[in-house]
Amino acid sequence: DPLAALVADLPACELHVHLEGTLEPELLLELAARNGVELATRTVEEVRATHVFDSLASFLAVYYPAMDVLQTRRDFTDLATAYLTRAAAQDVRRAEVFFDPQAHTSRGVPFEVVVEGLLEAVERAPHELGVDAALIMCFLRDHPVVSAEETLTASLPYADRILGVGLDSDERGHPPADFAAVFARAREAGYRLTVHCDIDQPGTLEHLRQALEDVRVDRIDHGTNIVEAPELLALAVERGLGFTSCPLSNGFVTEQMKAPEIVALLRAGAKVCVNGDDPAYFGGYLKENLLALARVADLSPADVVQLARNSFEASWAPPERVAEHL
Ligand code: ADE
Ligand code: ZN
Repeated sequence: DPLAALVADLPACELHVHLEGTLEPELLLELAARNGVELATRTVEEVRATHVFDSLASFLAVYYPAMDVLQTRRDFTDLATAYLTRAAAQDVRRAEVFFDPQAHTSRGVPFEVVVEGLLEAVERAPHELGVDAALIMCFLRDHPVVSAEETLTASLPYADRILGVGLDSDERGHPPADFAAVFARAREAGYRLTVHCDIDQPGTLEHLRQALEDVRVDRIDHGTNIVEAPELLALAVERGLGFTSCPLSNGFVTEQMKAPEIVALLRAGAKVCVNGDDPAYFGGYLKENLLALARVADLSPADVVQLARNSFEASWAPPERVAEHL
């Protein structure tokens, strides 16, 4: 199978993966045992049986409670190391990975424990795994804006070791413009900016407009609804903005991978790339996503190569590092 062979050998960047969404059932159970956390599920099969989603909200209702097993600095290091090890095995050359500090600080885990645990894994990855890695701290849009402000303030001592900030969690009723001031402060602190515009959410085109015009993002996560707004798409293409698509995730959050929309972005010259999102929950890491999309959309080998190329061009790596890979 030539398509599978091409994907199997193709280096790429991962620009949209939530570290907490890489918590595989095996590690979940191991951390629960290590920390004495009582879970309702006792086996890998039982954990997997809870992974039934038909919306973003139904996914988040499983995703957040699982994080209770993440308690110590070592837990966060182990989580990130497990992901980066898988990424290395999938020829991921660079990974710009999300984490959700408020999902941990809100249950009493100090910000420093989370960040220092993750940084230990991220800063070892280039030497030990050959993966250039960086952290993107996401604000939870369904928490108060003041909590995002506090999270940004807590991050400032680490500003030179955190690449960017993002916006995730339940999008309904939580437009990007609500966070424009926090994002402006984050940019002042040297962070790159990205925002989730999840698939088919209420108000999605207005959210895309706000992300582009009010927040002035440096990238958009998901965002495929932009194909419905040609003037916004033209603006994004003109700015060379990256779009981080996640086909398998789309298939859970909606009922489709949104392959036609992803292909439309590709044809429009947008820097769209393919990513894992929450691979422990949605059934595949980067390569599984790329192959699934390639098959459903009947992509040519040149299209698949372009998607991988776009992942480097949409990354926030220094230009000379990007050039090495193209
Ligand atoms: N948090 C983790 N995964 C997410 C997604 N796909 N959308 C919004 N928030 C998330
Ligand atoms: Zn996401």
